[in-house]
Amino acid sequence: MPSDVPPAEPQDGDGTPGHEGGDAGAAPVAPGPPLELRPHFPIRTSRLLLRPLTAADTDELLEYRSLPEVCRYVPFLPMDRAAVAERLADAWARTEITGEGQGLILGVQLAETGRLVGDVNLFLHSQEHRSAEVGWVLSPQHSGHGYATEAAHAILHLAFDDLKVHRVIARVDARNLASVRLAQRLGMRREALLLENEWFKGGWSDEIDFALLESEWATQHREPAATP
Ligand SMILES: CC(C)(COP(=O)(O)OP(=O)(O)OC[C@H]1O[C@@H](n2cnc3c(N)ncnc32)[C@H](O)[C@@H]1OP(=O)(O)O)[C@@H](O)C(=O)NCCC(=O)NCCS
Repeated sequence: MPSDVPPAEPQDGDGTPGHEGGDAGAAPVAPGPPLELRPHFPIRTSRLLLRPLTAADTDELLEYRSLPEVCRYVPFLPMDRAAVAERLADAWARTEITGEGQGLILGVQLAETGRLVGDVNLFLHSQEHRSAEVGWVLSPQHSGHGYATEAAHAILHLAFDDLKVHRVIARVDARNLASVRLAQRLGMRREALLLENEWFKGGWSDEIDFALLESEWATQHREPAATP
């Protein structure tokens, strides 16, 4: 449930089972330069601007991030002014990704009116595996227009085209049907159902992992062949 730039998967080198680790120094590192992302803001889509959040966004952030319905399936609790200020000064202040374990959260603004309607995030899990996670939160006042889909699609462009990751996941509470539909609209593949994967807000929750590989992204975005 990556809606506040938290990691959903263990980081490399933390002692958890898996392919990473093992004999020290034996494993070759995947090819490619260090993954870094330094976007030029604002990022424009057909109806939206994506850009870092600032203290000037506090009131509009509170309008939706304080709502229990928005927080039902995400790790954070309804926020008050102090919680928003704390995040803005810390995790949300980042404007670039320069290494694994770092995430970027971007405000989603309507280009026409300047209204902040939500936020999307991108978290780099692993340099070695070139894996990232995306998340999204939209004000319920502005749902049903495809804004979250449009913003999340822009975040996938950042992940694959600029950060150059190999694989992106979205982890969604199985009860969060609006989010499941959004992942499907993005062309993400339903990959796993994790039964009772987390003790979450007072009960065991099932989660669905959606994933997209760079090869699948490239296929989705291939230009149609020019007709002679
Ligand atoms: C998950 C969440 C972002 C989905 O919001 P949303 O409004 O359904 O998503 P979009 O803005 O992309 O709008 C899509 C809806 O608008 C419709 N729509 C209208 N115009 C559209 C357009 N131009 N493009 C795409 N969809 C459009 C779609 O059909 C869809 O409706 P449907 O799901 O009933 O079929 C929102 O419910 C939310 O913020 N929830 C709380 C936070 C949360 O749980 N985050 C996810 C954590 S994993």
